[in-house]
Amino acid sequence: VPRPGKRGSGPAAGINVVAVFGAGLMGSGIAQVAAQAGYTVNLADVSDKAVQNGMKIIARSVARVAKKVAPGQEDEYVKTVLGNLRPTTDPSVAVGNAEIVIESIVENIELKQNLMAALDKHAKPDSIFATNTSALLVKEVSEKCPAARKARFGGLHFFNPVPVMRLVEVIRSDTMEDAAYDRLFEFGESLGKVAVKCKDTPGFIVNRILAAYNREATMVVERGDASFEDVDKAMELGAGYPMGPFKLFDYVGLDTCNLIGMSWAIRAAQGLVPESMVDPPSNMIPELVEEGHFGRKTGRGFYDYSKEKNKLR
Ligand code: 3HC
Repeated sequence: VPRPGKRGSGPAAGINVVAVFGAGLMGSGIAQVAAQAGYTVNLADVSDKAVQNGMKIIARSVARVAKKVAPGQEDEYVKTVLGNLRPTTDPSVAVGNAEIVIESIVENIELKQNLMAALDKHAKPDSIFATNTSALLVKEVSEKCPAARKARFGGLHFFNPVPVMRLVEVIRSDTMEDAAYDRLFEFGESLGKVAVKCKDTPGFIVNRILAAYNREATMVVERGDASFEDVDKAMELGAGYPMGPFKLFDYVGLDTCNLIGMSWAIRAAQGLVPESMVDPPSNMIPELVEEGHFGRKTGRGFYDYSKEKNKLR
């Protein structure tokens, strides 16, 4: 059987066990690519239901990957990768033996800070902590951890769908030691991703640039210049994007996009990004979220997915 992680360089030196906290779309994707690269992965969430849902997402996705990397030996590949995963709801079990601890829970600063401070107490002193935050700063997420952990605390920002998108942004906070950053970078590459370096700034590289693009997309529609369907067609066929902005909102999840939008407003109020990034505000995503439409995962967002068999794709 081809080694899981064939598309990566395999486990990084001294790292055997990875803990991923948060079994949603992103967290399960991160756990999957780590398991594919040959790591033992403790996948944790607060409830059995959430963890099992994450395992289901992974099983579906690994089957798609297997067709590509292990033709003719798909079943064995899937079995090996799934065998590397250890689902759990116990934080001490999740992080106790891990060399890398990644959080990928909801974009809520207090929840993230409290989770990381709690995990710090169960983790090995020298394990590296990383946040997959989309729009918060690494230094904010690490705030309630002791200084020794802050020295080993960085950002590892993945893109949806994690098993497909080749990039990982590796974020260095001001408090992070060089050796820990270098290890985190090496770990990112070992997952078969292309890693880029970025400072701890709002939105890092991709989301900072996407924010301006997404905002203009909603404004074109709100001004009545074009329909959202036509904006999508235009950006796909005229600019070569794999998905237009509205399909991408639905794909990422409108709940997540909404939280990201709110965090830009906070950044602007703090003077960290220009007011022009958020003013005038767009109501398109907040209104859909208010109505309970979160995109593909709920069957409806800008588009209707209720007739599609696999809403998560
Ligand atoms: N798991 C495994 N494989 C998957 C997959 C998944 N979840 N989703 C798609 N694939 C594979 C398919 O099997 C297919 O493989 P093949 O080429 O060997 O047949 C390939 O990917 C292409 O998939 P599809 O044919 O189903 O559809 P598309 O060609 O439209 O590709 C897409 C789907 C990769 C999602 C593409 O549309 C895309 O790149 N979209 C843009 C995604 C993007 O911009 N993501 C970043 C969002 S921002 C973000 O995540 C940051 C965060 O902070 C919010």
